[in-house]
Amino acid sequence: MEQLLDKFGRKISYLRLAVTDRCNFRCQYCMPAEGIQIVERAELLTFKEMYRITRVLSELGVNKVRLTGGEPFVRRDFMKFLESLSFNDRLDQINITTNGALIGEHIAALEKMKINAVNLSIDSLKEENFNTIVRRKSFQKVIQVLNDLEQSSIRLKLNIVTLPGVNTDEILDFVALTKEKDIAVRFIEEMPFNGKGLRETKELWNYTKIYDHITNHFQDIEKIDNGKSSTSHNFRVKGYKGTFGIIPAFTRTICGDCNRIRITATGLFKNCLFDQGVFNVRDFIRKGASDDDLKQLFINTVHHKPENGFVAEKMRGTDIVSESMSTIGG
Ligand code: 5AD
Ligand code: SF4
Repeated sequence: MEQLLDKFGRKISYLRLAVTDRCNFRCQYCMPAEGIQIVERAELLTFKEMYRITRVLSELGVNKVRLTGGEPFVRRDFMKFLESLSFNDRLDQINITTNGALIGEHIAALEKMKINAVNLSIDSLKEENFNTIVRRKSFQKVIQVLNDLEQSSIRLKLNIVTLPGVNTDEILDFVALTKEKDIAVRFIEEMPFNGKGLRETKELWNYTKIYDHITNHFQDIEKIDNGKSSTSHNFRVKGYKGTFGIIPAFTRTICGDCNRIRITATGLFKNCLFDQGVFNVRDFIRKGASDDDLKQLFINTVHHKPENGFVAEKMRGTDIVSESMSTIGG
């Protein structure tokens, strides 16, 4: 079978596909209060186009897809799209990243499909703090979803963006959650992807600081091997049901084993979270590209995947990557 290999010998098997650039939250670290400039609907990939892109990529060895946004559930017919994707036998894993506001009523249906894991963004366990961070009064809903997902057959991961002075005092509480809950709690280094660039913060909470903070408090910690292309370094407090992990999103120490590509809601193909986008798949498809044309394009493009996020960032020629995560596709 033809495969997607880059010039460092890395095999690409994981697609992160943003199904929309729209979001019903306004997380402080992701966008300004007034939101970001969203694109015209016609510029978004249609679900039909997304289905085709995913099918072609799966024929090239992609066996894992993550659906992101924006918030995937704000796009109409997202559930129908998931259902059609779940019929693709080449996909071993279909995962979703969501803010939790709209997924509640769909959990039973998701259990019936091939959905493996849901990554729920939840940056605080305190109602007021949570609502302030996301700029919406949605805490109760999201906590309910956390509990419902935990009870379901879908694996649950929590994404916590580490915000100095805002939720860093809750890091230990999040780890403590894993005592009784079989969930994976993951702390993400904050990135400047918020529509403005780096926010001013009092302290820098990078991987090492998060790790030291946790291990100072919980001494009995074991390392967990999640396979070489995992985005997080993972651990368990001995005897706890769940695990915790740290995602070095900004210090980028995990790039070496990267197996991922991204396609944004407008069809921009990205070899790396930090690159500028290599070409627009949507335009290529709308000009009448055949499946073979598409395959060739994917194979050639992946070959040039940058070695790591620092190289990718440098190649852009701009200062610092600052567009919103909801444009980039989480
Ligand atoms: N830094 C780190 N993570 C971010 N996310 C969104 N914006 C940022 C940022 N600036 C995370 C969300 C979500 C995932 C899709 O990306 O919290 O969990
Ligand atoms: Fe929406 Fe996610 Fe951005 Fe929050 S982080 S505003 S939930 S896209």
